[in-house]
Amino acid sequence: MVSRLPRILAEVTPSDELAAAAFRLAADHGFSVYDAAYLALAEARNTWGLTADLNWEVDMAGLLDGKVAIITGAGNGLGEAYAKLFAREGASVVVNDLGGARDGTGADRSAAQKVVDAIEAAGGKAVANGDDVSTLQGGENILKTALDNFGRVDTLVCNAGILRDKTFANTSEADWDAVIKVHLKGTYCTALPVWKWMKDNGGGSMVLTSSTSGLYGNFGQTNYGAAKAGIYGMVRVMAIEGRKYNIRVMGLAPGAYTRLTSDLPGRAGKEPDPLSLPENVAPGVLYMVSDLAADHSGKVLGVSSRGVREIKMLQTGGFQPGRPYTAQEVAEHASEVFFQNAEERTAQTA
Ligand SMILES: NC(=O)c1ccc[n+]([C@@H]2O[C@H](COP(=O)([O-])OP(=O)(O)OC[C@H]3O[C@@H](n4cnc5c(N)ncnc54)[C@H](O)[C@@H]3O)[C@@H](O)[C@H]2O)c1
Repeated sequence: MVSRLPRILAEVTPSDELAAAAFRLAADHGFSVYDAAYLALAEARNTWGLTADLNWEVDMAGLLDGKVAIITGAGNGLGEAYAKLFAREGASVVVNDLGGARDGTGADRSAAQKVVDAIEAAGGKAVANGDDVSTLQGGENILKTALDNFGRVDTLVCNAGILRDKTFANTSEADWDAVIKVHLKGTYCTALPVWKWMKDNGGGSMVLTSSTSGLYGNFGQTNYGAAKAGIYGMVRVMAIEGRKYNIRVMGLAPGAYTRLTSDLPGRAGKEPDPLSLPENVAPGVLYMVSDLAADHSGKVLGVSSRGVREIKMLQTGGFQPGRPYTAQEVAEHASEVFFQNAEERTAQTA
């Protein structure tokens, strides 16, 4: 509901000062514009003695009012930002997080609980779940948490993730298995029980988290890239199968400053760019799960400080001989086989 505040602010008098104050606050302090708007509204209550705002907050519908959302790995980083924004938009949220370290070792239920506490303190509804997404039992327990507490599920964001980066030559079997298990199998284990429930109960929306590391490739991440490309495949197939059950499935390639990415070249030891914080990815994901996304399904959006854009698989016109051909002929037609113009190359690697 609070997310409506920027629009509300634009309608109140003196609106310009309020809206300007909110956006200045956001820019100066790296707040999400929603948090900034909330602070500006509080300030306005003191400065101009506004009182009607409370009614507006109650009356204005949020994008997810009455909906139930499950977000995995929501104890930190991107998932935490999604959980807080979804709750502000009226959703009851299952905050799942195993609470381990960045490499997937350990467990600590307080990771999920602290996000639930923050949501509840802000007037939202949420419940913590500490199950491991990488087992089917874990996935079933996560769905059960939603059904026991809120009676239904409308949205699932598969977001939980770990990293064990190594060059391919140095990737151990244990590192390979751990990363594939949390990301790829974890997406299967969480999505399957929810899918079955949605299939029997009118449908819903899912966002499965892929990565440019899998879609384009990235040095030192064969295990992670393989898992994330596998998730892209899940999005494509599940979207086709989900149409008749009214289940929309979107893929996400996020980019944000979190504990997974804080040590990337150029970032280590520096204050993060406010635009790169997870709060600036969350509105893109809110769009994807909400009715605003209409019937978009099976599509991947890149969402980062650079904004929101679709990423898709492309193919060239190719060499089409229509008869048996030789390897030498393929070489002779290389300019038709491979992308040639600069724009297509950019599209391929952006
Ligand atoms: N940050 C980025 O720029 C970026 C880029 C591409 C993809 N991603 C993906 O976005 C997702 C979120 O990443 P983040 O950057 O917010 O990282 P993060 O480490 O801040 O959050 C990931 C969360 O997942 C939880 N988790 C890990 N294994 C789990 C398990 N087995 N069961 C339940 N919870 C588990 C962790 O405890 C952690 O809280 C991940 O899937 C990641 O691969 C992030």
